[in-house]
Amino acid sequence: MLAKEAAKAAAEAYIPVSVKSLRLDTVLGFDLHIKINGEFVLYRASDTPFTQKSLDSLKEHHVDNIYVSSADSEGYQKYIESHLEEILEDETVEEKVKAKIVYDTAALLVKDVMARPGSVETVKRSMKLVEATVFHNLNNSSAFYNMLKVMQFNYSTYTHSINVCTFSLALAQFSGISDTDELNRLGLGALLHDVGKTRISESILNKAGPLTADEWKQIEKHPQYGFEIILETNIIPHDSHYPILQHHERENGSGYPHGRKSGEIHLFSKIVAIADVFDAMTTQRVYRNAVDTFPAMQQIYNDHTKFDADLVKNFTRMMGPREQDDET
Ligand SMILES: [Fe+2]
Ligand SMILES: [Fe+2]
Repeated sequence: MLAKEAAKAAAEAYIPVSVKSLRLDTVLGFDLHIKINGEFVLYRASDTPFTQKSLDSLKEHHVDNIYVSSADSEGYQKYIESHLEEILEDETVEEKVKAKIVYDTAALLVKDVMARPGSVETVKRSMKLVEATVFHNLNNSSAFYNMLKVMQFNYSTYTHSINVCTFSLALAQFSGISDTDELNRLGLGALLHDVGKTRISESILNKAGPLTADEWKQIEKHPQYGFEIILETNIIPHDSHYPILQHHERENGSGYPHGRKSGEIHLFSKIVAIADVFDAMTTQRVYRNAVDTFPAMQQIYNDHTKFDADLVKNFTRMMGPREQDDET
């Protein structure tokens, strides 16, 4: 193997993680590595507690990121999920670092959900993650704008799901929804909205050319599939099912799967519909280039018969220029 390729393979085998994500005096359950002159060196074995002394020494050497072997990625993921509330409450962790931790954790979690769509365990973990995020968002007005800074716009179902969840929660809050339980139920439905795509073949989902009528018929089944998958787990609140089943329904009845009209569509579904179409437009897909934020907003605005007018207005205001860009 060429030296360059070997270095690339080694880098791919290690995941950079923020030192700030590690809690003091916890046994991590995964090895920590540092990078010295391009080589990954074991810094702390999995069964050694991470102490103030370890943190001080890393700080002293200006180490912000530490490396976890990709073989340990599952252990790291579980560790972060179980300590997420503490990380989000920790005032010494910068808001942007918190946003990145939430984003990366959520994307990996959705990957697990998609790998095992009917699993009660992954849905329970999703509920916990949404609850921690909602709690943090309610107590931090800049949380959404920090999430925007770390969002990835090269499309994958995982990043799409967390983007849609983020936009949906922000739009709901911007529209005056402040009840924690209500936001939790919306966030969960938004995060899981495309879980039905796991029953659609990859060749259709990633097709670069136009879809045939039959392929469209397949695609249009994903809300119903998602609803069935999540219903079977029998653990999520009733309201959270609506965005999964109805996120492609439109105010004028032109949507799918049931052609429901305005009054028949749940508020959560109307919120997720806007978040979903906005993310789909502004994200790089295999079959076309991303549209800039402004034209995407304009297109949603022009489609006023399809989306709830008040929510579109709120979304436009929310995404518009801000007077200040705080990091608090
Ligand atoms: Fe969808
Ligand atoms: Fe979607």
